[in-house]
Amino acid sequence: DDASDEAACPGPLIVVSNRQPYRHEYDDADAEDDTERSVTVDEPTGGLTAGLDPVCKRTDGTWIAWGDGSADFDVTDDRNCVSVPPDSEGYTLHRLDLSEAAVDSYYRGFSNRVLWPICHGFSDLLEDRPTDFEWYRTVNERFASAVADHATDDSVVWIQDYHFALAPRLVRDSIPPSATVAQFWHIPWPAPETFRDCPAGVDVLEGVLGNDLLGFHVDRYVENFLECVQRYVPNATVDRDQRLVRYEGEPTTVVATPMGVDAASFDRRARAADRRNPSALLTDAVSEETVVGLGVDRLDYTKGIPERLAALERFFERNPDWCGEFTFVQKATPSRTEIPTYERYGEFVRNEVERINGRFESGDWKPIVYTEEYVEPDDLCALYRQADVMIVSPIIDGMNLVAQEYLAASVDCDGALLLSDRTGAYERLGSHALGIDPTDTDAFARRIAESLSMPRHERRRRMNTLRHRVFENDIGSWMDSQFDWIQSIHEGSSSEAID
Ligand code: ADP
Ligand code: F6P
Repeated sequence: DDASDEAACPGPLIVVSNRQPYRHEYDDADAEDDTERSVTVDEPTGGLTAGLDPVCKRTDGTWIAWGDGSADFDVTDDRNCVSVPPDSEGYTLHRLDLSEAAVDSYYRGFSNRVLWPICHGFSDLLEDRPTDFEWYRTVNERFASAVADHATDDSVVWIQDYHFALAPRLVRDSIPPSATVAQFWHIPWPAPETFRDCPAGVDVLEGVLGNDLLGFHVDRYVENFLECVQRYVPNATVDRDQRLVRYEGEPTTVVATPMGVDAASFDRRARAADRRNPSALLTDAVSEETVVGLGVDRLDYTKGIPERLAALERFFERNPDWCGEFTFVQKATPSRTEIPTYERYGEFVRNEVERINGRFESGDWKPIVYTEEYVEPDDLCALYRQADVMIVSPIIDGMNLVAQEYLAASVDCDGALLLSDRTGAYERLGSHALGIDPTDTDAFARRIAESLSMPRHERRRRMNTLRHRVFENDIGSWMDSQFDWIQSIHEGSSSEAID
């Protein structure tokens, strides 16, 4: 097993997330029943499911998620309830079907037009549409009632992310008091001055305070959350030192437990990769001699892709000797494309790539090779291994797993990581990564030049330290710390229930 030692969950685990870990598409043509239908399995892009799936496979738990077009829910119930991995021990995935109106308001509305921009400090992109919050509540109720259907006295309910700010309180009120409700908030929590603009902000805070345990990636988000509670929920008592909130008599413990990646698995896949020829890289613009830079992101306005392109443009302007020698490969996955802001962002990125390539390309060589596709895990590891420089430049990111995946896959220890100092990953990895302010184009471009001319021993020294940190704090140790916290709270609540 790849993810370090077994993390022990103190009771039957119920995971709740918006995104499902697997999407199954059934080819129904002429099939009499499910056994005859061919199925394609897809893994959605995103840090949350990528991180949790390997861990949940080691539990005998339940994972409740939105079915997102996976099954034709009218045909058979089997598609709403599947074993992962198929036909062996793992967990049971329960899918909830949501109507188009619900998805539009709950997911594309309150989750991604309100909470996502607010939490990332993009208040100017906030769009508060009339019925979105009511749908958000309805969907949270729906998930909470699905949890109640599965919960037992000693269940551990573990809710993921900002799609479910109201569910914790609803779950808490509908399952036995001896069961534990925990939530991990995978994105930043903003300062009170920013959170003030959040529509239904008090409902959000009161909902989240239904948790026994609430986790964030880094201390700053914990501090911001406690300040928001202190300021906007007057009836709550906040103990900043103990990181404990009491609201309506119930305690919520707030912790910072930074999420890691399954480092051993990235390392193993990278070692197995054909170093000079990863298929995902094959293009005339990249020869064996080309020095390769790499970016891997969802097309999201928080990821700082235009800022990265601007820095690359400045770099080629100032360092013409690198033209023909260095190529930047950007893998981008379209994300939330039904939201116009995202659509416009994708359009802008594509145009910028074309413009910059038009300025510098010559013969077969291009400064930027840009593709929008999902890269299979083996190819992704081969790419990571081949990249001489990895650029991760979000304007803000709760954690950022791509940076950690790159380090885990850098088995030759000869790559360099440029990392935005506004990411949770930077807070945990520190200055052994080459820190950048993504909005300072000149300094960013100088950092690119610096990374390319860095002596080999210096790259190796930094990389060794960074890899060590990623292996020490991998997904297994994250789960251990989550389950340790859950265990101590779980024991407390079971003894209270007995008293
Ligand atoms: P977020 O959760 O905001 O998308 P993270 O960096 O934390 O950002 O996680 C992104 C995850 O999605 C990583 O596991 C990364 O490998 C994966 N990913 C991103 N883009 C691609 C892509 N084009 N192909 C395959 N996987 C991708
Ligand atoms: O990590 C943040 C997150 O929003 C996850 O909750 C989500 O699965 C991922 O980014 C990708 O976004 P989406 O599920 O909206 O495609």
